[in-house]
Amino acid sequence: MKTFKDIQNLIQDDISKTNQVLITHLNSDVALINQMSGYIINAGGKRLRPLLLLLCARATNHQGQHCHLIAAVIELIHTATLLHDDIVDESNTRRGKETANDVWGNSASVLVGDFLYSRAFEMMVKSDSMYIMKIISKATNEITQGEVLQLLNCQNSAITEKEYYQVIERKTAVLFQIAAQIGGILSNVGTIQEQGLRDYGLHLGNAFQIIDDVLDYQSDSKTIGKEIGDDLNEGKATLPIIYALKNAPVEDRQILKDAINNADNSKIEQVLDILYSVNAFDYTRKQAQKSSDLAKKSLNSLQDSKYKEALILLCDLSLQRKT
Ligand code: IPE
Ligand code: IPE
Ligand code: MG
Ligand code: MG
Repeated sequence: MKTFKDIQNLIQDDISKTNQVLITHLNSDVALINQMSGYIINAGGKRLRPLLLLLCARATNHQGQHCHLIAAVIELIHTATLLHDDIVDESNTRRGKETANDVWGNSASVLVGDFLYSRAFEMMVKSDSMYIMKIISKATNEITQGEVLQLLNCQNSAITEKEYYQVIERKTAVLFQIAAQIGGILSNVGTIQEQGLRDYGLHLGNAFQIIDDVLDYQSDSKTIGKEIGDDLNEGKATLPIIYALKNAPVEDRQILKDAINNADNSKIEQVLDILYSVNAFDYTRKQAQKSSDLAKKSLNSLQDSKYKEALILLCDLSLQRKT
């Protein structure tokens, strides 16, 4: 097993069933809802969070079919956050297509995001598990807090590395965390393994977002399927910028500060030069590597299996990823 495709092949049947659950639960008699939710869900996406839940379930010997429902719930919550996030970030491209807010406007996107959240909640009730519902509802609330915290930090060049981690943990890593944890819960694992899976998801989620923040500078929109340079455009000081703000010469720091404080990406080329001059991307990738290593270590309590192997591989792939 070497590639993301290999991992998907390992649980192809579970992925297809989860997709089926997703599609059948999007129906509404309001045509615009069908159109918009179909638009974003059918655009694909990596389906990484359901994949995580399914792998963790299978790695801990879950035998049933219950996992598909909750895996679909997690993907719907993720998709709702994307609809809202693209409005807040004023993004124009998502999953290789025009964003829903660009096509239908912000109001419709807010409301269909709400539809997806609440549909996910309707579905999760079918799990009949108060514990799982508690975990999912708390995580959803945490994500929104992360996004608000990030909003508060826009155009703030004084944000610290610690504050950056508080944001990414909540807005991104928490959903990875509970996807992994719920996989274990479905198999009735003990508390040690459940905690191990939670830790795994959290660290993997952090690594994933740190790399996302690198790719926002280093990728191109055709490859990654979304606009790059969005973070600077929104005045978001992510880890490469935070590092350079501490390590660049004074004049360069001023250029970065102005770009962040004014949410101005007109000097993106100069900003990139500064980031490269202090090796900000090497530093940032090293931090992602640390999180990825911690994620791997968190799997120690799991029995060896091809599913565990896939979970370990995901740690490496999250660092090398281009999309
Ligand atoms: C995008 O997540 C949002 C982040 C947390 C960076 P993904 O990169 O998993 O998006 P899709 O689902 O594959 O489109
Ligand atoms: C992740 O942050 C957003 C959510 C977790 C909702 P980003 O704003 O960096 O995600 P992208 O780059 O738009 O996918
Ligand atoms: Mg965004
Ligand atoms: Mg991003």
